[in-house]
Amino acid sequence: VTVRDTRVLVLGGTSEIAGAIVRELATRERECRVVLAGRDPRALDRAAQELRTAGCARVQTLVVDALERDGHQAALEQAWAQLGGVDVAILAVGLLGERGGLPRDIGGALEVLDVNVVGAGSLLLHSARLLRDQPRGGGTLVVLSSVAAERARASNVVYGASKAGLDALAQGLADALHDSDVRVMVVRPGFVHTRMTRGLRAPPLATTPQEVARATVSGLERGARTVWAPSAMRWVMIGLRALPRKVFRRLPL
Ligand SMILES: NC(=O)c1ccc[n+]([C@@H]2O[C@H](COP(=O)([O-])OP(=O)(O)OC[C@H]3O[C@@H](n4cnc5c(N)ncnc54)[C@H](OP(=O)(O)O)[C@@H]3O)[C@@H](O)[C@H]2O)c1
Repeated sequence: VTVRDTRVLVLGGTSEIAGAIVRELATRERECRVVLAGRDPRALDRAAQELRTAGCARVQTLVVDALERDGHQAALEQAWAQLGGVDVAILAVGLLGERGGLPRDIGGALEVLDVNVVGAGSLLLHSARLLRDQPRGGGTLVVLSSVAAERARASNVVYGASKAGLDALAQGLADALHDSDVRVMVVRPGFVHTRMTRGLRAPPLATTPQEVARATVSGLERGARTVWAPSAMRWVMIGLRALPRKVFRRLPL
């Protein structure tokens, strides 16, 4: 699959990883039209300006909050209208929240679940339906999951559980839509240096938004269903998943 003249919708339009993916797409396109959708209009304007400076001339913004689910369908229909249809929708909405096991702030933990599973899930399902139903239907949903989805760690329980929920929804949807023209591609990065992880100790194999972007666009071009970034994370996670629980919980992860 080659990616040309692509209409791109970014849900989580201020995300550093999503911004890098759009810039990577733009370097390979003749033309790239973009809608950045997110909750903060001023931050979206800044992100749009950065993309224009990087060479994406046609960038618009749209306000949508993952927590305001009743507005999702109308907001997404507006995005579809702004772009005249969507070829690639990138779901990058996500909160890391408080790290650790049993949270001190249970309200904050529930917000992570609300944003990362229910809110992101709502945006995912509405987008899948709009992609399927658009004239000359089809397109690709890129879902930013995480290696954390593979096995919840004691150091990151709530985020891991939230990503596991979103990842399962996306993988199941990918299979359910297998015979349609809608493709769901799940991206599972390891630790990425962005504002989400600022101040945290970087583990081995930590990567950059640009590396995740290159892996994502290369996955789009070859029709991948799951993308690991860096690719070695795939083998690391096969190993970690197979570890007995009493060993896994002692690892300093
Ligand atoms: N960085 C990592 O190590 C890493 C690793 C694996 C997976 N990921 C995943 O990759 C995705 C992008 O992360 P990133 O590193 O690029 O971090 P980021 O720059 O913090 O991006 C997160 C995005 O989620 C948006 N968001 C949060 N709550 C929202 C809400 N209620 N409504 C709408 N948007 C909301 C943020 O918008 P605001 O600007 O308004 O806050 C921002 O656009 C996330 O899903 C993350 O879980 C990240």
